[in-house]
Amino acid sequence: MTGGTRSRRLLLLLLLVGVAARAALGVVTDGLLPNGNFEQGPDASQMNGTRVTSPNAMPNWEISGFVEYIGSGQKQDDMILPVPEGARAVRLGNDATIRQLLSVTRKAYYSITFSAARTCAQAEKLNVSVGLESSVLPIQTVYTSSGWDSYSFAFKARHSTVWLTIHNPGIEEDPACGPLIDSIAIKNLSPPRREKGNMLRNGDFEEGPFIFPDTAWGALVPPMDEDDVCPLPGWMVMSDTKVVKYVDAAHHAVPRGARGVELVAGREAALLQEVPTTPGRWYGLSFSVGDAGNGCAEPMVVEAYAARATARVSYESRGTGGSKRASLEFAAAANLTRVVFQSYNHHMKPDGTLCGPVLDDVSLVSVRRHAARRLLL
Ligand SMILES: *[C@@H]1O[C@H](CO)[C@@H](O)[C@H](O)[C@H]1NC(C)=O
Ligand SMILES: *[C@@H]1O[C@H](CO)[C@@H](O)[C@H](O)[C@H]1NC(C)=O
Ligand SMILES: *[C@@H]1O[C@H](CO)[C@@H](O)[C@H](O)[C@H]1NC(C)=O
Repeated sequence: MTGGTRSRRLLLLLLLVGVAARAALGVVTDGLLPNGNFEQGPDASQMNGTRVTSPNAMPNWEISGFVEYIGSGQKQDDMILPVPEGARAVRLGNDATIRQLLSVTRKAYYSITFSAARTCAQAEKLNVSVGLESSVLPIQTVYTSSGWDSYSFAFKARHSTVWLTIHNPGIEEDPACGPLIDSIAIKNLSPPRREKGNMLRNGDFEEGPFIFPDTAWGALVPPMDEDDVCPLPGWMVMSDTKVVKYVDAAHHAVPRGARGVELVAGREAALLQEVPTTPGRWYGLSFSVGDAGNGCAEPMVVEAYAARATARVSYESRGTGGSKRASLEFAAAANLTRVVFQSYNHHMKPDGTLCGPVLDDVSLVSVRRHAARRLLL
């Protein structure tokens, strides 16, 4: 055997070992990412005060910019910084980034859920990206009384390893001003399905982003561009800066199944789906309107529209859960029809946090024209 052949074999062996090691790591499973709650932190030698000084100081993560490692109960000025999960979190100051390399299944869809709390700047934003897909999540509105909200983001894996990056693009006078981040989880999303007898995909909202089982505040689905992947498969959220809230039956009243959507932003956010239709044909949209049983006790109105038809559905919420069915018939005007839902008003719980009607179990079917309408035509 020549030296050249031997070294080539050795190289091949090393490559194979490398492949095996990567396979042993395995693709991510649903739930918290490795060290996704930052409980494993830097050594004291890799910190200056609370600031993390070395890019690889945090197990499983790579950082850059002004990143702080925060302990539960830590104070900033006179404000205690609470931590939702465990005792540790990170804070992304000016131009700070944290990232983790994920092993995923190529071409599969995933959602990321993470908890964030705004600290001092008013218009805090986070740029979450995976590969070429990125989304700037506005986090200035606070939807919980604790100050911590869970945000979701979704992507299609273009490669089998991808970097998940969370970046604070802000530049504040105080470089430490920036959002706290904790509890980062992933979930494999099934492609949106049409149930038999329903033209809409994921009409019952059973498929959606990861919700932390021990948190009572669901997961926020932020607005996105039309061609972005939505954490709520089949649906889209349109808004400048507001969100809809994905809620679970474990902590909320949900009209049917295990999941529903709370419309928490009044008319500032719309939840919609585009569906292929035949111009001139009639369709029937039906849906449940209820309340999440979270003390949001106000008269509510959900507005639904499709083509040129609108329905305003009133619902008297006592804040204790309950729902009713409503429907809307419309004649399609185009090959694609947008089915849109909004809360007609803003609502607030006694603790001052935003809330609203819950939407669930949405279905669309083709219907025969009404006899009355036929007479009119
Ligand atoms: C720690 O940070 C302070 C304030 O930014 C700086 O003055 C000091 O030199 C830093 N210490 C080390 C060891 O880098
Ligand atoms: C967000 O981050 C991605 C990836 O780093 C980048 O390509 C994109 O331009 C950023 N978006 C904004 C608005 O800064
Ligand atoms: C619907 O699609 C057909 C063919 O795909 C096209 O010829 C027609 O112009 C479209 N109609 C409308 C109203 O967009």
